[in-house]
Amino acid sequence: MTFDFEKTIERRHTSSTKWIKYDDPNIIPMWVADMDFETAPCIKSALLKRIEHGIYGYTQPPDELTSAVINYLDASFNWSVNADWIVWLPSLVVGLNVVSRAFAEEGAEILSNTPIYPPFLSAPTYGNRSTVTAPLVWSGNRWEMDFDLLEDKITKNTKAFLFCSPHNPTGRVWDETELRALVDFCHKHGLVLISDEIHSGLVLDQDKQHTVTASVNDAEDMTVTLLSASKTFNMPSLGCAYAIIKNETLREKVKRVMNGIVHHVGSMGYTATLAAYTLGHDWHQALLNRLRTNRDHVESRLKQQPLLTVYHSEATYLTWIDARRMDVVNPSKHFESFGVGLYDGEPFGAPGFLRLNFACPEKLLDEALHRIEKGLTVLP
Ligand SMILES: Cc1ncc(COP(=O)(O)O)c(C=O)c1O
Repeated sequence: MTFDFEKTIERRHTSSTKWIKYDDPNIIPMWVADMDFETAPCIKSALLKRIEHGIYGYTQPPDELTSAVINYLDASFNWSVNADWIVWLPSLVVGLNVVSRAFAEEGAEILSNTPIYPPFLSAPTYGNRSTVTAPLVWSGNRWEMDFDLLEDKITKNTKAFLFCSPHNPTGRVWDETELRALVDFCHKHGLVLISDEIHSGLVLDQDKQHTVTASVNDAEDMTVTLLSASKTFNMPSLGCAYAIIKNETLREKVKRVMNGIVHHVGSMGYTATLAAYTLGHDWHQALLNRLRTNRDHVESRLKQQPLLTVYHSEATYLTWIDARRMDVVNPSKHFESFGVGLYDGEPFGAPGFLRLNFACPEKLLDEALHRIEKGLTVLP
């Protein structure tokens, strides 16, 4: 079966978060991480069938879905989990907020690296905890964690580490050696390791594979893994994510924070996730091919620009760009005036950088790249 990733689907009048951001309707939005591709046909069919039923009453996670998650994690990452380790969540960002409250008391600190997906920085502070960060360092060919810098940030008040794997925004696929070092670091300092693996289905480099943090060494007992099919299958508005927590004490702490406050997952979210994990394999492979082509296209075009440094995305559909040599106060505003909406690095803890979402039909991507190139020729 072939899938059409070139189809242009009008999203402007669908209340799409991505497409309503800019007052100027001519700006091509390439900021938030959702794709301008239709989701897998098997997901659409499953949802239509569920809609046809006509009753949308309170719902429980279907047993087949629990088995589907277990089988997917085993087949994809060689990671074996038990049904009772799964805690369903309405979104992964809810998960980041819940774990921040569960594993650090008010006033305590949670460690992370910058640049980072902005909710990593805001979630602890929303619950009156603080986020403490150390920057990733550029080794000359990849972004890496610097454990000396992290070590300097540890206080007796540091309770957890918020980790993103694969990494948004740099697109790193952490290897086992790096994961082992992180696990050892967290062990040494008694930190709960929270591993957001929402991009794990989006590894693009064919010589790399995603390793689940919890599967490394003896990490399983101290790690909370946050997952969702929503990023890979482009369905974040359906609201279905989950945590895998082997350690019963940690699991109970999470459930206690959620009790009575966190809404349950809806029937559409469960239905779509079940279809994704059981029927979505071929579409997923086709998507990865399309994303590889788009990524290569972005990298080869923008690498020719002397004012930008473009980092290779091993995973995700996001390109991380250093725009500081442009020497403009606000590079994202500059490109908006040329008709492209990029995500500014500032909320990622990296002012002067930009994030570009390349998950769109080729024609739109080409036009956006053309506008970026034009914007680089007319600097203030
Ligand atoms: C690392 C990471 N975590 C979480 C999310 C959001 O997840 P959700 O939509 O389930 O809240 C994103 C979305 O881009 C992300 O990149």
